Amino acid sequence: MPLKFRLGKDVKGGLSYQDYIYLKRIVQAFRLHRFDQREFARKGEDYLFNFVNKNVGPVDEKRRKFLQGILVGVSAALVAGIIPGLRVLVPPVEAISGFPKTLIVDSSGNPIKASTLPVNSPIIMLFSYPLKDEINFLLNLGDKDGKPVEIPATTVIVPQTGDKYQFPGGVGPNKSIVAYSAICQHLGCEPPYIHFYPPKYVNTAQISAPEPDALTAEAVLAAQKENLPGIIHCDCHGSTYDPYHGAAVLTGPTVRPLPAVILEWDSSTDYLYATGYVGVGVYPTGSNGVPSKDPSSDLEESQFGVSVGNKSSISESNPFS
Ligand code: FES
Repeated sequence: MPLKFRLGKDVKGGLSYQDYIYLKRIVQAFRLHRFDQREFARKGEDYLFNFVNKNVGPVDEKRRKFLQGILVGVSAALVAGIIPGLRVLVPPVEAISGFPKTLIVDSSGNPIKASTLPVNSPIIMLFSYPLKDEINFLLNLGDKDGKPVEIPATTVIVPQTGDKYQFPGGVGPNKSIVAYSAICQHLGCEPPYIHFYPPKYVNTAQISAPEPDALTAEAVLAAQKENLPGIIHCDCHGSTYDPYHGAAVLTGPTVRPLPAVILEWDSSTDYLYATGYVGVGVYPTGSNGVPSKDPSSDLEESQFGVSVGNKSSISESNPFS
């Protein structure tokens, strides 16, 4: 059996969090830079170490052991002739032409009613879309007084490349509900490390508050400068995103915005649906970032996981408690 490394829950179960992040970075490097499989076949681990050293970062003793561990699986697959080269490590990018239309429900399976979603809630509300491993925030955004704020359509710029894409804006009775990937586009940290800081927490006191304790002064200053009531902040290394403008980048180290879920609100039922995705997703490397509104179900058995299908349920946690 080849050793398979898959992004998502399977990996988390067997690796430390640091290894998981490191592995994600390696997989990203394989996607962004040319990996010469012939050279790899000839030079073996030296070629892999050099590649990682150049495109991911210095390979110290601990990382060397980790990479050697990966190679055991790769070699086994090569010897068995099951899969050529590093396909065990790097799944091919699969063309995806559409996304399912997915009803967002609560943990009991009842549809979420848009008009009952709490505004500026500090509770992290997550749902998977379009695949089961791909988690997203559901946010009802408000002003400093907790009144819902209409989120306009906006053009989002990707600092890394200068590319632009169109974020369609908020939905719901006040056009204040948005959904973004909950996976930091710097190195892939997930909730509770990345989350929404509602207005009452976006201040200098939060910088030294016991929990969560990693809001940076840079993030607070950036929010004040842009007059933003709340921000999405990643406590891992300080990346900050503007949820009021398509989760655009406010502060680095990320150079990519959070991809956004295209939401639809049915005013007759008050239900919310996820229908597509916009943005340039790096984490995970599955289906994010493929702009499409075609609600077909071709994600049913994707290379990267399983489609959430026509329902996705919310899970909640509170990083401030
Ligand atoms: S992973 Fe989020 S800032 Fe680094």
